[in-house]
Amino acid sequence: MQVSISAELRRRFAEARRVLVLTGAGVSAESGVPTFRGGGNTAVWKGIPFDVISSGAMLERNLPAVWEWFDYRRGVLASLEPNPAHYQIARWQDRFPDFTLVTQNVDGLHQKAGSRNVVELHGNVWRARCTVCRMGHDMSESARPDACPSCGNSVRPDVVLFGEMLPPGVFEFAANKAAECDLCFVIGTSAIVYPAAGLPAIAKDAGAFVCEVNPERTPLSSLCDEVITGKAGEVVPQIGL
Ligand code: APR
Repeated sequence: MQVSISAELRRRFAEARRVLVLTGAGVSAESGVPTFRGGGNTAVWKGIPFDVISSGAMLERNLPAVWEWFDYRRGVLASLEPNPAHYQIARWQDRFPDFTLVTQNVDGLHQKAGSRNVVELHGNVWRARCTVCRMGHDMSESARPDACPSCGNSVRPDVVLFGEMLPPGVFEFAANKAAECDLCFVIGTSAIVYPAAGLPAIAKDAGAFVCEVNPERTPLSSLCDEVITGKAGEVVPQIGL
């Protein structure tokens, strides 16, 4: 689907030096990753709403059940590939002198498309973390450890669960970059989960041009300088390189 990109956005894109991109589940939808909300439905696992099975409270109560859900998600993700939106965003990192990719996604598809230094606000399903020494364990090449190889305590998904705080310093880093950027893209997020959804307003208040890409309007649409209605995989490659 051909979309119209305004002359203003083309000019801002050509002149931008500091760019921030915020992505959500929608950027991975065309890769086959189910979104959490959009389209009116809410993800459910074995009859348990995702925000219950994916919660800190469930982790306290039943860590094996939480692992079963994340093992399933890794199983689904293992066969999925990045889409043209992921690849175009990866190319942008070498286009701009200062480029920051902030994602709410835990699927690792940005990295699979070649994005470096991805700011993961909500963690990553391909990592486990010790519940005591907090040591991280990469599961992209190896199986999930039964216990922390370093201290022997239990390990948990290295993902921010509902009711939990973001990793220390990650949001602050993203907020500083948002306050410095001159162009901000918001791609594939319903913009209802904070603090992530607050980043575009920080950029806007600092004078950045804010552009949203989403097939549906969101609570952020009215704040944006440009709203491009469409799917990320079709729209983002048309924005420019
Ligand atoms: N391209 C772009 N956007 C899309 C596409 C697409 N192909 N398909 C759907 N969308 C949009 C939907 O319209 C919706 O606005 O993506 C958004 C997905 O919203 P959510 O499912 O709420 O995902 P997200 O905004 O990332 O959720 C934020 O909430 O569930 C928690 O921790 C989880 O990181 C997640 C956070």
